[in-house]
Amino acid sequence: MDIKNAKVGFLGFGNMASAICDGLLLKKAVGPANIYACARDQNKLQANCKSRGINAASADELIRASDIVVIGVLPQQVEGVVKEYAAALRDKPIFSIAAGIGYARYVSYLGEGWHHISTIPNTPVAVGEGIIVAEDTHSLTAEQLELFEGVFGQIAKIEYFSPELLSLGGTGAGCSPAFVDVFMEALADGLVKHGMTRAKAYSIIPQMMIGTATYFMKSGQHPGALKDAVCTPGGTTIAGISALEEKGFRHSVIYAIDKVMAKKKTL
Ligand SMILES: NC(=O)c1ccc[n+]([C@@H]2O[C@H](COP(=O)([O-])OP(=O)(O)OC[C@H]3O[C@@H](n4cnc5c(N)ncnc54)[C@H](OP(=O)(O)O)[C@@H]3O)[C@@H](O)[C@H]2O)c1
Repeated sequence: MDIKNAKVGFLGFGNMASAICDGLLLKKAVGPANIYACARDQNKLQANCKSRGINAASADELIRASDIVVIGVLPQQVEGVVKEYAAALRDKPIFSIAAGIGYARYVSYLGEGWHHISTIPNTPVAVGEGIIVAEDTHSLTAEQLELFEGVFGQIAKIEYFSPELLSLGGTGAGCSPAFVDVFMEALADGLVKHGMTRAKAYSIIPQMMIGTATYFMKSGQHPGALKDAVCTPGGTTIAGISALEEKGFRHSVIYAIDKVMAKKKTL
């Protein structure tokens, strides 16, 4: 499989599909001439494609032209779309990004014999630093899986989960960025309160987070050990940690995951 010249089609080109597309273009994983997109609103589609230099196409043209088809419509639209284009999709690898539509659901829509993998990507794919949570039960052939990983592994870390844990993986990768955004904003608020400009705060906070995460990954140390290392006895950082504990910081985060998972059960 020629990963460098793979043709990617986005059946549905809204927020998430265009984030994936932007990541592919940024990382030069796929050239614009090899990307196809379709959507219902033709004016919006033309504008979205023109600004990226990619091809606007009909669903039929897109499926014919693509080596891999990304199903980028809303979860409630997946059934209608895949059933409508079932015949054309028969021999194409299908990369689904629809939350809550796993392998079994695809089989219930299409029956056996189609090649699909269900995933939940997160928005940092747009800058080539994403996570794609993928279901380990799929029906891609070995060559199709190589294509999927070869192309989309350039913009995201791909992590596989069992069908039971896919949704939890999606919470960790997909919902947590919003929690981190709130944390960054709160840190900036604290610094601004004490006299730092907002611009300066937003200049140092993301780099602090990237550095902290990189150090954690590369050092192989437990996060508690890294925290201990910067907490001098009787010092300033432990005073801040104590304040976080007093206000239930850890439990707030755990409780947020509880609430996300409870909400997902109602959908
Ligand atoms: N946004 C996220 O952070 C996120 C994260 C993980 C997964 N996802 C998943 O990504 C998928 C898309 O979400 P989104 O936020 O990107 O939604 P969105 O912005 O509403 O995009 C949906 C796209 O599907 C198109 N569409 C709908 N019906 C179609 C049809 N019959 N034929 C062709 N195109 C059709 C829409 O076109 P028109 O606009 O022209 O109607 C639009 O381009 C969802 O399944 C969601 O679960 C999203």
